[in-house]
Amino acid sequence: MYQNKTNPSPELARKISLFKEIDFKVIQKKVERIGIKLDAYREDYLARRISYHFNRSSVLNLNDYFEKLSTDETFLIDLIDCINVNLSYFFRDTDRFEYLKQNILPLLMKTFPRKKLKIWSIGCSIGAEIFSVSLILNSLNYLAQSNLFASDIDREALFRAKDAKYYFNEMKYLLPEYLNYFTESDLKEFTLNQPIREAVKFYLHDISNLNSLNNKKYHLLICRNVVIYFKKELKEKLYSAFYEWLEPGGILFIGSNESILGESKNKFESLGKQFYRKPL
Ligand SMILES: C[S@@+](CC[C@H](N)C(=O)[O-])C[C@H]1O[C@@H](n2cnc3c(N)ncnc32)[C@H](O)[C@@H]1O
Repeated sequence: MYQNKTNPSPELARKISLFKEIDFKVIQKKVERIGIKLDAYREDYLARRISYHFNRSSVLNLNDYFEKLSTDETFLIDLIDCINVNLSYFFRDTDRFEYLKQNILPLLMKTFPRKKLKIWSIGCSIGAEIFSVSLILNSLNYLAQSNLFASDIDREALFRAKDAKYYFNEMKYLLPEYLNYFTESDLKEFTLNQPIREAVKFYLHDISNLNSLNNKKYHLLICRNVVIYFKKELKEKLYSAFYEWLEPGGILFIGSNESILGESKNKFESLGKQFYRKPL
């Protein structure tokens, strides 16, 4: 009755989606036991990721798969990692980072001249995104006047972010002028040096948990390639929350395939591709 593992994965994804009413709830419950909510994610996305995880595992049928999820916590955490795809690299959307350097950060410095710039990278993955900002701020001699925060739901990604060791393919869009901020090790890893590393405070945070909203305000919020996997209603709520979390004059930086949804859409001013400003 359950799909055999040798079948092609699109078929499997279709079968899994047939069971979604029952099976997603089962998975959801198991995952919630360790504090992670899955109801934020779109079901088609979940079906694809769960199907991929199942295919990759040594388990042969869905019954055994769910059994293993209940009994083997490492396996469950592996599924969560599989759902939280954390592909990231330095200067992703290179031209947007150039725009950030030439236009967005100078605009923020001018708008908030006597304040420390508060910047938060939400869904920061391995830290390459916020460290790209940190490198730019350093080149603008503005790192000491900035407070940088970065959060993610994925402990392993955060561990890598704090460790600040990168492989060459994660640095392929790095401009040569920033290369001397890294030290190469024998293992072909590049470690990011101080003061770029220590400028960022990393912490564990689930952005889909709207009860965890705080009252802090930011000058720049970066949330790219994270909410793309979330349901429309949650995306709308998050964009409203981002609007609230920004100081008037503050700016939101989103991913290249994303657009602002919901009632906050008309409140933001567009500053060109991927940048939106809360009016002063
Ligand atoms: C594709 S990566 C994007 C990383 C980076 N923002 C970039 O664009 O290069 C998506 C990240 O979002 C994180 N993520 C997914 N769901 C999350 C949630 N509910 N709260 C916080 N982070 C989440 C994942 O763990 C992953 O590290």
